[in-house]
Amino acid sequence: MRCSRGLKICCGVAAIILIIFIVVLVVLFFTVFKPKDPDINLQSVKLEHFSLEVFPALALNVSLGTVVTVDNPNHGSFTYQNSTAYIYYRGNLVAEAPLHEDTIPARKDHNISTTVTIFVDAEKFQDLPNDNERGVVEFTSTTTLVGKVKVLLDLFKIKATSYSICHLSLFVRDQSINSTCNSEIKF
Ligand SMILES: *[C@@H]1O[C@H](CO)[C@@H](O)[C@H](O)[C@H]1NC(C)=O
Ligand SMILES: *[C@@H]1O[C@H](CO)[C@@H](O)[C@H](O)[C@H]1NC(C)=O
Ligand SMILES: *[C@@H]1O[C@H](CO)[C@@H](O)[C@H](O)[C@H]1NC(C)=O
Ligand SMILES: *[C@@H]1O[C@H](CO)[C@@H](O)[C@H](O)[C@H]1NC(C)=O
Repeated sequence: MRCSRGLKICCGVAAIILIIFIVVLVVLFFTVFKPKDPDINLQSVKLEHFSLEVFPALALNVSLGTVVTVDNPNHGSFTYQNSTAYIYYRGNLVAEAPLHEDTIPARKDHNISTTVTIFVDAEKFQDLPNDNERGVVEFTSTTTLVGKVKVLLDLFKIKATSYSICHLSLFVRDQSINSTCNSEIKF
């Protein structure tokens, strides 16, 4: 009887400690270790090649060297799978760029460099002459990174998918490019 009472006290204490431990973990999970959106920014877009042909039809052939910085604000690493960046001109897919799988350590940033070649001609894209006249050709790029974020001192891995959209403006006359990006992560 005494022995079992001792056991009960022991179990009770163990249970209380376990509950406190779980509560602390849950609180930490929703505060300090709460998964946050990785920031995806197009750091620089460099025009590596630019040519505007006028014969037989108006055609734009540009190569962009891009550096995308992925900033991981989480207390755990973010690992993503091989992916592709898609570039659209007026809603039509005009180029693709591969993004190699990688792991971004906790609270670090990471640069991904890639080159994309875009070719658009007026035969397929009737808006091109107008855009050219206006001096600005606009592109949109979308990237989806599917991966995992480690949380709570790497105890748990949660699936995370990051979506980013960039708007690129190619200024035909001074052959320069401007970009703005937005990104969002879903768990
Ligand atoms: C675009 O320009 C590059 C470099 O001059 C060339 O190699 C490529 O063939 C061109 N693409 C098209 C579709 O004309
Ligand atoms: C990711 O791409 C690289 C080449 O770019 C390839 O060697 C590797 O096997 C790919 N990984 C997966 C999981 O498909
Ligand atoms: C990534 O590139 C940016 C700008 O080019 C630079 O400031 C940053 O230090 C680079 N980060 C890494 C991890 O190389
Ligand atoms: C490109 O962006 C920079 C800074 O974001 C801005 O100062 C510049 O005016 C933009 N260029 C054009 C042509 O809009």
